[in-house]
Amino acid sequence: MTLKIGRGAAAPPFLVMDVIAAANARQDSLPQGAPHVIRMEVGQPGTGAPAGAVAAARAALHSGHPLGYTEAFGLRSLRHRIAGHAKDWYGVDLPLERIAVTVGASGAFPLAFLAAFDPGDRIAMAAPFYPPYVNILTALGMTPVILEAGIETRFQPTVAMLKKLDPRPDGLIVASPCNPAGTMLHTDELSAIAIWCHRNGVRLISDEIYHGLNYDSPIASAAQFSDSAIVVNSFSKYFSMTGWRIGWLVLPTDLARPVECLAQNLFISAPYISQVAAEAAFDWHTELQGNIARYRRSRDHLLAALPAAGFTRLSPAEGAFYLFADIGDRSNDSAAFCARMLREAGVAVSPGVDFDRTRGHRFVRFSYCGPEADMREAAERLRDWR
Ligand SMILES: Cc1ncc(COP(=O)(O)O)c(C=O)c1O
Repeated sequence: MTLKIGRGAAAPPFLVMDVIAAANARQDSLPQGAPHVIRMEVGQPGTGAPAGAVAAARAALHSGHPLGYTEAFGLRSLRHRIAGHAKDWYGVDLPLERIAVTVGASGAFPLAFLAAFDPGDRIAMAAPFYPPYVNILTALGMTPVILEAGIETRFQPTVAMLKKLDPRPDGLIVASPCNPAGTMLHTDELSAIAIWCHRNGVRLISDEIYHGLNYDSPIASAAQFSDSAIVVNSFSKYFSMTGWRIGWLVLPTDLARPVECLAQNLFISAPYISQVAAEAAFDWHTELQGNIARYRRSRDHLLAALPAAGFTRLSPAEGAFYLFADIGDRSNDSAAFCARMLREAGVAVSPGVDFDRTRGHRFVRFSYCGPEADMREAAERLRDWR
């Protein structure tokens, strides 16, 4: 008898994870004393949580508190801090009812998608994109609509692209700064998109996980321009707390209760201990600014050094900690190119195929969140490698 397998089982792998495994294997195979593999494939800060967040978690562990479930939307004290953060950074007043603490941004996506869309709905996004958007939507029976964006729009979608879509999509996902290109929607561009979506009945989902990691332009939140937009954020990047698995959603009023019901059923709550740590992290901006200064120095160094190593077509590195390089003049097979770079130069980077299924074979993504010395060393190794 053949048993049925659901459509979710067809979700493709997140290929960056395979590159990470290859880099680990390469490192393990090196003889003692050989130069180590430089990790530019991973998108997670090499630093840990801010000191105060760790101290708060330690205190909670020793307090005798049972560390049980919280309300599905999270600790009220943490939601207050998130509201304060929205006021500080964007000047937006958010009632607590619109703020939901989630299991990372990753845990926020299924909640947002299930509350806002139905199977068969069409959700647009620019390519290159963060692969789980497409993979989660597809697993839920929704249809991603890909807008091929190029360097001329800094790999970001525009209102003009949206206007051309017939039929109009049910939703739009944007990310600024984005992964993998590291580019941003500037304030006027984001506001134009948010207002167009609101007026045209298109539910906007704004992934703001890389906020705080912007180097040249100020950052804006979709919450400033639209009450119908869903904002996704996380403690993983700016707050350097990836493994704590904690994020948040800013919800439109009509979706708050539906998302709360979904969260109660799907996750019950985000981990208590991580919520305590996240709350404390808001007092540690000075330490976090130190991380950002380091990313900025690595970015500036790579922007100057990579062209000399033959990577001449780089995305404008406006934010996050990524550089997206068009390697079409050197290879038409980015996966093979990355495998050879790992083997011969000992530098691990991600092929673009994960992020753009039609053009990714000629792009690679450099992540510069690793140790500063490694980023400098990578530029040197690549200069001598062809
Ligand atoms: C654009 C983007 N959104 C969401 C996520 C998921 O982050 P989290 O660790 O909060 O689940 C990532 C992780 O790299 C990302 O790059």
